[in-house]
Amino acid sequence: MTVTASAVQVCNHPLVQQNLTRLRDFQTPSGEFRRRAGELSRMLVYEAMRELAVRPVGVETPLGPAKGSVISDYVILAPVLRAGLILAEAAQEIIASARIYHIGLKRDEETLQAISYYAKLPDALPAEACVYVLDPMLATGGSAIAAISLFDKMGVKNVHLVSFVAAPEGIQKVQQKYPHVKITTGSIDDKLNDHGYIVPGLGDAGDRIFGT
Ligand code: PRP
Ligand code: URA
Repeated sequence: MTVTASAVQVCNHPLVQQNLTRLRDFQTPSGEFRRRAGELSRMLVYEAMRELAVRPVGVETPLGPAKGSVISDYVILAPVLRAGLILAEAAQEIIASARIYHIGLKRDEETLQAISYYAKLPDALPAEACVYVLDPMLATGGSAIAAISLFDKMGVKNVHLVSFVAAPEGIQKVQQKYPHVKITTGSIDDKLNDHGYIVPGLGDAGDRIFGT
């Protein structure tokens, strides 16, 4: 399977990998799972947002003037419900000025097609907006493509996917349809199983985050 490495950033930071390892463990209790998922989310979003543009500003410290910078990009967070909420919460803590547009998608267990049940987007968005599609699992890629397409149709091309774990099949599918989309992930795993689950993955992210 061909995956274009340049558009995919695997975050190998030891703290990322330690948190991800705890999420993978089937014995990790749901309280710890949520806490670790929140920490991992903060780290991955932080890494993904390294690309944001800044503009210089002046600031007064107690000892005098200093040069500083503020983010100048129009940032949109687009969590894919349900599991993407954990990433959105963490991202909002880092960048309080970001707008959040929730996208409700549910994978049909039989067909593995993403079914849309909620999307409340404005009539227009600035074409130069930076959109972060947040979803812990990039499996077949169906949900990611459905989410990206909403913004693509509105003329927003600067889209970045953030996931805990990605399957090569999902990355390839996204890259074929939207080659400009960047991906930041904690791991590229081996493959999908017959039920569309990432192997080894971490199981059902939504169920484990929300204890269902
Ligand atoms: C899971 C996951 C992704 C999607 C990934 O969500 O959180 O959104 O599957 O699969 P794909 O790449 O094959 O589309 P699910 O549909 O189970 O919904 P949930 O988050 O509400 O549990
Ligand atoms: N959704 C999940 O939560 N886990 C997978 O492995 C695939 C889809």
